[in-house]
Amino acid sequence: MGKLRGMFAVYAAEPNPDKPLDSLRVGERPEPVVPDGWVPVTVKAASLNMHDLWTLRGVGIKPDQFPMILGCDGAGVLAGGPDAGAEVVLHSVVGDASVYGDETLDPKRTLLTEKHQGTFADTVIVPARNVLPKPAGLSFSEAACMGTAWLTAYRMLFTRSGLRPGQTMLVQGASGGVSTALVALGEAAGMRVWVTGRSAEKRALAERLGAHGTFESGARLPERVDAVFETVGKATWPHTMRSVKPGGTIVVSGSTSGPDPSADLQRLFFMQLRVVGSMMGTRDELAALLEFCHLKGIRPQIGTELPMGDAPEGFEQMLAGETAGKIVFTR
Ligand SMILES: NC(=O)c1ccc[n+]([C@@H]2O[C@H](COP(=O)([O-])OP(=O)(O)OC[C@H]3O[C@@H](n4cnc5c(N)ncnc54)[C@H](OP(=O)(O)O)[C@@H]3O)[C@@H](O)[C@H]2O)c1
Repeated sequence: MGKLRGMFAVYAAEPNPDKPLDSLRVGERPEPVVPDGWVPVTVKAASLNMHDLWTLRGVGIKPDQFPMILGCDGAGVLAGGPDAGAEVVLHSVVGDASVYGDETLDPKRTLLTEKHQGTFADTVIVPARNVLPKPAGLSFSEAACMGTAWLTAYRMLFTRSGLRPGQTMLVQGASGGVSTALVALGEAAGMRVWVTGRSAEKRALAERLGAHGTFESGARLPERVDAVFETVGKATWPHTMRSVKPGGTIVVSGSTSGPDPSADLQRLFFMQLRVVGSMMGTRDELAALLEFCHLKGIRPQIGTELPMGDAPEGFEQMLAGETAGKIVFTR
């Protein structure tokens, strides 16, 4: 077999639990070979997710999978097949929907960058069902935000929380990708949206996105809420447990500050709370998210947009907690 041609890529060279950015490389990786049933996509934009920092640390990926091209969402142009030239949004969950109905429940499901190479490159390959038409109203950069952070927020809110319009939701964290998506989606769906943020600037951002009330991290709320949306974990969990109504719901999709919060089991059963996990979303949910954003005129909040070659700058911002919405890389 001949030598594979190289292409531009931002990748993790090896796992580095303590200094994740030391493993980050901007360079070349082999161009992908396209298996039957898969399609090549020329990447136009992709967004940074905390997942990429976990990958650099070696969390959620086997050591023999390195080097791994980073990036678990994106938007671009089909580079082959009968629809070549079509503008598409990528769905990152590779799983068997025909067996499980919901591919996120397939025990063998993977996200891009766990087993298959990611989107921070000239070209990415995905199964043909993992591309959706890009809505004309969204730019490539905006569409690139949808596949991970926004999809996760959509499923947390509309599939997993059980909230109804008019009820009150609390989002822990103001400026992150998932947090900003939850605020915009919750406001558009008719929820009363409250947000905690670690600085006045971050809380002001949440208010601009439609939050009805913002609070310092850990602050006592005027009243308990119907549901709390958690991605922060250890740092906010005690506040989350105190802030939810009897019979209320906590939806968890991340644990940025640490994975081992005190469960506070006595409060859990005494207050009859529901703690619900949530993981990415299905292709159908991504299609519905794109339609919901179209109907409501919602565009994702992008805090930083950089050429993909400057990706390390974006990674440094995320590691330092300096987010103001999504961080997007363009090609
Ligand atoms: N399960 C899934 O399918 C899924 C999908 C996407 C993301 N996630 C997880 O969700 C988490 C967030 O991801 P992201 O991409 O949105 O990250 P991000 O853009 O970097 O946002 C981080 C968020 O966490 C908050 N935060 C961080 N440390 C905090 C602390 N010590 N105290 C209070 N708030 C803190 C920040 O709040 P401030 O605004 O106040 O700084 C910010 O809103 C990650 O753990 C990620 O792995 C899971």
